[in-house]
Amino acid sequence: MRIDNVKLSDFRNYENLDLKFDKNVNIFIGNNAQGKTNLLESIYMSSIGKSFRTSRDGEMIRFGSDYFIIKVCAEKNGNPLLVEIAVLKDGTKGIKVDGLKIKKMSDLLRHIYCVIFSPEDLKIVKEEPEKRRTFIDKTLSQLSISYYNEIYEYKKIVKQRNALLKEIKNSGYEDMLCIWDEKLAGSGAKIIIKRNEFISKLADIAEGFHSSITGGSEKSEICYEPDVELCESIEEQKKNILKALSESEKRDIKYGSTGRGPHKDDICIKVNGVDIRRFGSQGQQRTAALSLKLAELNIIEEETGETPILLLDDVMSELDSFRQNFLIKSLKDVQLFITTAELTDDVKSVLVNGKIFNVVNGTVTG
Ligand SMILES: Nc1ncnc2c1ncn2[C@@H]1O[C@H](COP(=O)(O)OP(=O)(O)OP(=O)(O)O)[C@@H](O)[C@H]1O
Ligand SMILES: [Mg+2]
Repeated sequence: MRIDNVKLSDFRNYENLDLKFDKNVNIFIGNNAQGKTNLLESIYMSSIGKSFRTSRDGEMIRFGSDYFIIKVCAEKNGNPLLVEIAVLKDGTKGIKVDGLKIKKMSDLLRHIYCVIFSPEDLKIVKEEPEKRRTFIDKTLSQLSISYYNEIYEYKKIVKQRNALLKEIKNSGYEDMLCIWDEKLAGSGAKIIIKRNEFISKLADIAEGFHSSITGGSEKSEICYEPDVELCESIEEQKKNILKALSESEKRDIKYGSTGRGPHKDDICIKVNGVDIRRFGSQGQQRTAALSLKLAELNIIEEETGETPILLLDDVMSELDSFRQNFLIKSLKDVQLFITTAELTDDVKSVLVNGKIFNVVNGTVTG
């Protein structure tokens, strides 16, 4: 799929912007703080209705303004597609797809597929488990509306159970807890089963990329590390979560937080047998992160039949020329949006046909 045009009104440092894109490669060059990432953020918004940088929509309204509007014209299977997003200062968010207002956020999914790769993503491997869970959840959510809804539900249940645990600590009234345990186990079991299935697919593809990038000298192994032991069926999985919850009940009440469940899951990433989350070199961690991102792109393409758009935010300068070339060469038929402070000869040589835009203080020329 392709994005043809973006129009912005009062979004971040863009008062008014109307840009037409190249169907293959778009490169945004500019100094720091000129609006390069803001532009990618607006494109990403059209895909999942949320930013990759903030959970507060209001932050994206241009200082001094009361709202922002994003209009993204795309092309999918040869058909035009229009996504419009408006956010008001009071937090109201309205989204239209092809002129029709959507009723719930999940109705936006499965229209524009987008993968973002930024220096933050290069840290997926070495940072805390939450980063890896978020990566899995975001990708799975783009692929499955039921997963998107389930993870939303699950997070709500954990919050409510935690609130109850704090109450119990004060009042000692524990009868209600089993209701939340039941809900948490039911929702958590579905999440674990889905994550397991997805991570094994992702692992196969990412391990292949890792081997290619390193010319076969590094063999990576990626596996799901669920907090509660994995089971064959949803029913057994649910029982296992209930067991784990009951075992940690005293601890949970003491701390007022739920200590067990898929919100504690992780993915283990090994290279040549060594856990690189803790013991990897920076190069190994970057190769693994790059492989995971390329695998994400491949899976979305495989499962949806659509080539997602790839946003590369400042990531080229973080990769050596070999990895840069590998990345670009792996991206056949992918529309690219690249931001960079300067165009290195390496990037230039592989992106000869790209359209180049200069970004200066909220204006874009190209
Ligand atoms: N809500 C807002 N209203 C107006 N300006 C904003 C808003 N949010 C951020 N900005 C401005 O946008 C600029 C940052 O834009 P952006 O993050 O896109 O920079 P960049 O070009 O990607 O820079 P770098 O190369 O450092 O990553 C800053 O000048 C910041 O003050
Ligand atoms: Mg930036």
